[in-house]
Order: sequence, then structure tokens, then C-alpha cells
Amino acid sequence: MTSSNSPISMIIDCDPGHDDAMALVVAARHANVLGVTTVAGNAPISATTRNARIVLDMIGSTAPLHQGAHRPLVAPPRDASYVHGKSGLDGADLPKPSRPADSEDAVGFIIDTCRAIEGVWLVPTGPLTNIALALRSAPDIARRIAGISLMGGGSFGNRSAAAEFNVWADPEAAAMVFEYGGKLIMSGLDVTHKLQATPQRIAKVRALPGQLASVLADLFVFFSDVYVSRHDNMQGGAVHDPCAVLALTHPQLFTTKPQHVVIELNGEHTRGMTMIDQRGLIERLNPNCEVVWDVQAEEAFDVIVQAIGHYSK
Ligand code: BDR
Ligand code: CA
Repeated sequence: MTSSNSPISMIIDCDPGHDDAMALVVAARHANVLGVTTVAGNAPISATTRNARIVLDMIGSTAPLHQGAHRPLVAPPRDASYVHGKSGLDGADLPKPSRPADSEDAVGFIIDTCRAIEGVWLVPTGPLTNIALALRSAPDIARRIAGISLMGGGSFGNRSAAAEFNVWADPEAAAMVFEYGGKLIMSGLDVTHKLQATPQRIAKVRALPGQLASVLADLFVFFSDVYVSRHDNMQGGAVHDPCAVLALTHPQLFTTKPQHVVIELNGEHTRGMTMIDQRGLIERLNPNCEVVWDVQAEEAFDVIVQAIGHYSK
């Protein structure tokens, strides 16, 4: 059950990516997806776009799909094939995509949609390049959107000791997003590492009938094996990206706190860090961000399982 009767309208800006794929399924089920835009991140842009096309096909979605930035604003392009494999979506037998992307102008699509419809949520689950470019080219959309709910950052890193991958990949873009002045929700590693695809949870996906469930179970297994083998304390892959969607569609499952967050751009060891002001001082900086700290993991994973079940017949 979603918490409101009329679904939230959103644009998913993603770099599929195993967990991006899960986020697309949950969004299709529980939100009004106005469009999907892709960005280079987990894999080069041609691969993330192809993967988005496949996932949308598998859930029967005809949502507009627009390809976006092929590289970060300033940082050199670097992918996450060490987590997602070379294709960005390794580990399952995937069908060939049936349709091309609608354009290569994700930024134009985001701007036009936000100008045409008031109150859209932007939900980035990859590097923040497209969102930053849209805000820079069309600053007026900052006041028209409902907000930005992103997966990224946290009080610790994964790509470096300090920096999470999505922010690390394009810190200049992230800085623009964190300074944009409107509502911002950050689902960082603190919360996403609490939502793990354990073998017991993956078994719930495997038990569902249909091709989609079988493909997604294979993807979960690949992704989780990578996480378990790379960490000394994880029972499954961190189901990062669905948190950015669920924080909007199922806010009752999350614990958040308004805090001030800045992006470190210059630190020798800390570039790409989301520095969260956690001081208890009365004179701390004013919050610019709702930081998501905790999740009711069993319930949240069940929402994902049910969304997969809905489309897997
Ligand atoms: C983030 O990086 C990517 O590998 C995942 O898709 C997620 O968006 C986690 O750090
Ligand atoms: Ca992602």
C-alpha cells in the first residue's frame, strides 16, 4: 500500500545498474512515472540506456525514455563494472530491448516536463550530471518541482573511505544539486546498507511466478554475491536505489532528520564526501536536506517483492 491515494509524479534519472532496475519496478508500481532518463555511471551511457530499455520492456512500461549525459561535468568518466559487471546488468539472461530511446536530450526532457507540470519529483539514482545540467540551464524549475529524492552520499563511503559512488562520480554536479535551494531527500549508504538482499529475501523473489521474477532473482544473486565477497560484514547486496523511490511512496518505513549537507570538492582524501552537520550545537548550519537514516527493512523489501510480483505473470 502506498501512503497516499494519488500517486506521486516523478522522473527517474538512473544508470541501471541492478538496484536501479529494482527502483524502476517499484516506481512503476507505486508512482506516476512521467519519464525515465539515463546517465553514465555504473556503465557507459550506451549500456545504461540499453538496460533501462530492457527493464521498461520487461514491466510493459511505455514511459518516455531519454538518454542523457555520457560523462560527468568535470571528473573523468569512471564506471562501476566491479559491482555491476561490464554490461551494467550482468548475471541474468536478458531479452533484447524492443524500442530505442525517445531522444538523447534527457536534460531537455527534464526541463520541459518540469515546466509543463508543477510538483514533479526528480528521483536520481545515479551520478547527478543530468539534474545539475537541468538546474543550471533552467533555474526556474527549482521552484516548480516538488523536490529531489536521491540515492547517494551518507556518513561513510563505498568508492572511497569518504565518498559514495554517485556523488564521487560527479561531485561538481552533486554540489549544484545540494545547493539548489528546494526540498532534498538523501538516501545514503547509512540507510541503504540496512536494506540488504539476503538469501532469504531473494528466495521470496525466486518463489514468484513469471520471467521477470526469475530475471530479477538472478540479478539480485549476482549483485549480492559481489557485495558479500567484497565486504566482511554483509549478508546481501545493499538495495540502494529503491530507497530513493520508497522514501517518497512509503515514507512511513523510513526515519529521517533535517540536516545541513555539503559536498566536499577539494579534499585530497575526501572529494565527493557528503559532509553532514551532525553537531548538536544550537548554532549549527540550517538544514538543506532530509537525511534518511533508517528503514524498516523487512517491510521495505516486501514492497519490492510485491512490485515484482505485480509485473511477473
Ligand atoms: C550507488 O552506486 C551504484 O553502483 C548503485 O546503482 C547505486 O546507485 C551506490 O553507491
Ligand atoms: Ca544507480
